Amino acid sequence: MPHALLLNLRDTQRLAGGSERHVFRIEGRTDVVVKVMRSKYLRSLRMADDRTLLGWLKVRRAYALFRREQKALGDVMLRAAIREEMPPVMGFRGYILTEKGLGQIVEMIADENGGVAPSLHDQLQDGRVTEAQIGALNTFVAQLYDWHVVAHDLSPKNIVWNGPQARYVLVDGFGDRALLPLKSWNRRLNNRRLDRAFKEMGEKSGLTWMREKRAFARD
Ligand SMILES: Nc1ncnc2c1ncn2[C@@H]1O[C@H](COP(=O)(O)OP(=O)(O)OP(=O)(O)O)[C@@H](O)[C@H]1O
Ligand SMILES: [Mg+2]
Repeated sequence: MPHALLLNLRDTQRLAGGSERHVFRIEGRTDVVVKVMRSKYLRSLRMADDRTLLGWLKVRRAYALFRREQKALGDVMLRAAIREEMPPVMGFRGYILTEKGLGQIVEMIADENGGVAPSLHDQLQDGRVTEAQIGALNTFVAQLYDWHVVAHDLSPKNIVWNGPQARYVLVDGFGDRALLPLKSWNRRLNNRRLDRAFKEMGEKSGLTWMREKRAFARD
């Protein structure tokens, strides 16, 4: 494919990164960001031929995260359309071809100045989580149960503060990784998984998880 068709993501446009992906800004856009897989995941694809089964399986493995999230985001957006409410998970706008492979176009969670929003991890580290934010966190927690979001990594780095809307949003760590997606089918199973995930999050973050109330309190 000619290069002119691929979105060029320069290092200066990089906003953030995790262990699996890089997050880039698109020039002239403040509403969305592009997420691409880190190069270590794409190395095995250089010689892969998607016309062969083995090649196609390699492609699917490298992009398993995107495929899993797409399904989960689709389900959440379907619920949002029915409920006419904002979901507790960032919006998904589709895919774009980039020089760094396939890119996910997702809603950019911004702070009051239009910059990239802080995560709950950033806020906890700085010791600047207010009572109101704990309230917003508990609203977010209740929403994950209510929206039947299947999550496997509720790390505070994946929970981002949307300042202008005063709410927390999940940007990563969701989607069903199981071969048999039992948690996606069964709300009670998923609730139990969320209970465990929030308990772990409490232990790591210093926030107290109250199992009966399914809510956090401050230490
Ligand atoms: N839509 C978004 N809006 C604003 N910031 C975001 C968004 N998505 C991600 N971020 C920021 O970028 C960081 C990395 O993104 P993300 O968690 O998606 O990467 P990852 O590699 O999948 O993460 P991990 O290391 O947890 O596997 C997040 O911790 C968050 O601070
Ligand atoms: Mg992450």
